[in-house]
Amino acid sequence: MNFQQIFGKSPETEASAPGRVNLLGEHTDYNDGFVLPTAIPQRTTVQLGFSTDGHHHFYSEDLDEQVNILEINHTPSGFASYIFGCIQLLQKQGYTIPPLSLYVKSTVPIGVGLSSSAALEVATLRGLRELLNLPINDVEIAQLGQQAEIQYAGLNCGIMDQMASSLAGTDSMLFLDTRTLERRVIPFPGGAEILVIDSGVHHALAAGSGYNQRRAESEEAARRLGVKALRDITDPQAAESLPEPLRRRARHVITEDNRVLEAVHGVSAKRFGELMNASHASQRNDYEVSVPAVDTLVAILQKTPGVFGARLTGGGFGGASVALVVAGEGRGIATNVLE
Ligand code: GLA
Repeated sequence: MNFQQIFGKSPETEASAPGRVNLLGEHTDYNDGFVLPTAIPQRTTVQLGFSTDGHHHFYSEDLDEQVNILEINHTPSGFASYIFGCIQLLQKQGYTIPPLSLYVKSTVPIGVGLSSSAALEVATLRGLRELLNLPINDVEIAQLGQQAEIQYAGLNCGIMDQMASSLAGTDSMLFLDTRTLERRVIPFPGGAEILVIDSGVHHALAAGSGYNQRRAESEEAARRLGVKALRDITDPQAAESLPEPLRRRARHVITEDNRVLEAVHGVSAKRFGELMNASHASQRNDYEVSVPAVDTLVAILQKTPGVFGARLTGGGFGGASVALVVAGEGRGIATNVLE
């Protein structure tokens, strides 16, 4: 079913945005720290038109689900919550958003840590900017997308995913300081390419998940250490004074920030891979966001010839692994690993 078949006319405009894979810097963004994602080729596309019955209508091709917003004070659930959140936030900024017909299709896998929700938020906001001529820039789009996620989907996330979806390309990494939003484009390590493999264990990060709990633990650790955010600490020894589990949570964030800062100084693929392996161990042992299926997949990858390093990527509690592998060998390595 396409836009025409669902809504009985052609869309006025269309916009899209990519998912992302994070190479280093996990759970550092809401600690004001450093991240190193890249965009992936998979994208979410949103087609928009004006609705004539006074209500918003959202349709997801992948879910074959239509949500009609008849009651504007009631936030819908699922994919519609992200779109609804973007519209509400724009309205709160003073923009008038007319009733819309909105059609979503996506090749970004859902629930595997590749930011399908950020891709939907950024594509929706790009589409609205285009349709209504809104004077909002790419950073503002990322900020609005993050707020849609926090206020309307219940995930107290950082800004990495939306910044990556809004600003990163697929042929380089985006080094982002999440406190200042200063950023730099960094080439992939020489002679290497990226391989992403899904563990098959899907996650749901929002409300009631370990994700929001980890964020609260990080903030508590920062408070006890007397800093605004864990980003303000560079020596992992500082964490030793904290009680468990705050000690290990803080140690992960501090060492992870240090790994990103080392990686952006143009390290070799071999060294970059070692940093990824250390990041995985830290996520597994200190931050406790991995699951056995991902640990197994990462361990197999780390032992496979041609792999420089591998780790869990994204919010965790399931999802995909990312590996840095010898250029040109990704496909062959994936086939070996999945056998
Ligand atoms: C999710 C969140 C991001 C970030 C990662 C973990 O993807 O949306 O803000 O915190 O988890 O690095």
